[in-house]
Formats: sequence, structure tokens, C-alpha cells
Amino acid sequence: MRIRSNTYEKVCHLIASNIRDLVKHRETPVLGLATGTTPIGIYQELSRMRDTNFSSTITFNLDEYVGLNGWHPQSYNHFMYEHLFSNLTFHEKYFPTEKLYPYYDSMIDNVNGIDIQILGIGTNGHIAFNEPGTPRDSITRIVDLTENTIKDNSRFFDSIDEVPTRARTMGIETIMKAKRIYLVAQGSHKKEILEKAIHGEITPEVPASFLQEHPKCEVFYCE
Ligand code: F6R
Repeated sequence: MRIRSNTYEKVCHLIASNIRDLVKHRETPVLGLATGTTPIGIYQELSRMRDTNFSSTITFNLDEYVGLNGWHPQSYNHFMYEHLFSNLTFHEKYFPTEKLYPYYDSMIDNVNGIDIQILGIGTNGHIAFNEPGTPRDSITRIVDLTENTIKDNSRFFDSIDEVPTRARTMGIETIMKAKRIYLVAQGSHKKEILEKAIHGEITPEVPASFLQEHPKCEVFYCE
């Protein structure tokens, strides 16, 4: 597996264009979406695609905090409306909410799986909220966030005490079933963990390392 380095703008443009191609050619395209700083440029590109009709596209977000309602400014639901959902019309937009998360994996299977999954990577090697120690066969569930993740995510909150300590997240198995995956790591603080995940040992201690076993995962690094 190769890490492709390019500018953030070019990577976002490439991924957004591949999503547009999928959406143009599939009857019911299914996207797996991430939140955080990394995918914002992809969502900006998609939001500009006024000539593309997303109204038959179904989206499944990777994760959501436990304890924040969907309209809390730091909820992932709110994030998605701010960066994408208020700009484009989709057919259905799903989050692993308290109600849906027990059925999330079957809901994804029932629409024939995720066609394109977008992923970021945490500085501890997490993908979605699958923290170090997550087994390969994990599915959508509630997890405790590690101190490292709480600290990383505190930049979005007024104080670290406000960061939720638990989240609902797709599992590694859920993510590995996606037909195509784009993993993007942006910034020099992600370089070391990305190297380890993509060229190091495949181990639950670095959850992103399982992606080495995915037949169609493309990995991008942007300065
Ligand atoms: C968010 C998610 C997380 C982030 C990761 C990187 O939905 O699944 O795994 O992708 O924490 O976050 P950023 O992009 O903010 O550095």
C-alpha cells in the first residue's frame, strides 16, 4: 500500500470528483462520511457541484458523540449540516444515533454497502472512534474515548470538561466492508502515525493498520 502525497486542495478535488463520478453512474449511491477538520475541503468541493444531482444518494456518518443532541454546535450532525447537508440535497442522511446505532450495520448491508468511505486518522491511529485496542471484528457500538482523543477534540469546545467521553461509532468491520476507502491525513503531526498505520505491523493497537488488508483503499498525505 502506497501513501500518495499531494496538496490538500488537489486531494480534496480528486476525492470529490470520484464521488461525483459515482453519483452520476449509480442508481442509489451510498457514501460513508467523516467529520473533523480533514474532510472539510472535500465537502466544500462537493457543495460547489451544483450540476450534480445527489438526491438519490444515501449517506452514513461514521460516528456521533454520546450525550450531545443533534443540534448541539459540536455534534457531528450539526457539523454535517454546516459543511455539507445545508448545501446539497441527499436522499437519506444517517447517523449512529441512540435509536439507530444497534441496526446501523444491517442498515448499511440492506442498501448493498457503502460505495465510497471517507476517513481521517487520529494522532493515536484511530479511524472513526475505533481507539487503539479495537478488534478487527468490531461493529457499530458505543465506545469510551481515550484521553488522547478527548484532548485532540477539546479544540472545538470551550473547555476539555465539555468534551463527551463516549461516542457511537462504526466498527472496523463496518468500515472494512466499504467497497472503496479514501484515507486522508493532513498535517505534519499525522505523518508518523500514518507511516506506522500503512507500513507498520497490522495490529489493533493501530486501528488504521487494518486498512492495509482492504483491496481498494487509497491513502493520501497532505502537508
Ligand atoms: C470523525 C472521525 C475521526 C477523525 C479523526 C481525525 O468522524 O471519524 O476519526 O477522522 O479524529 O480528525 P481531524 O480530521 O479533525 O484531524
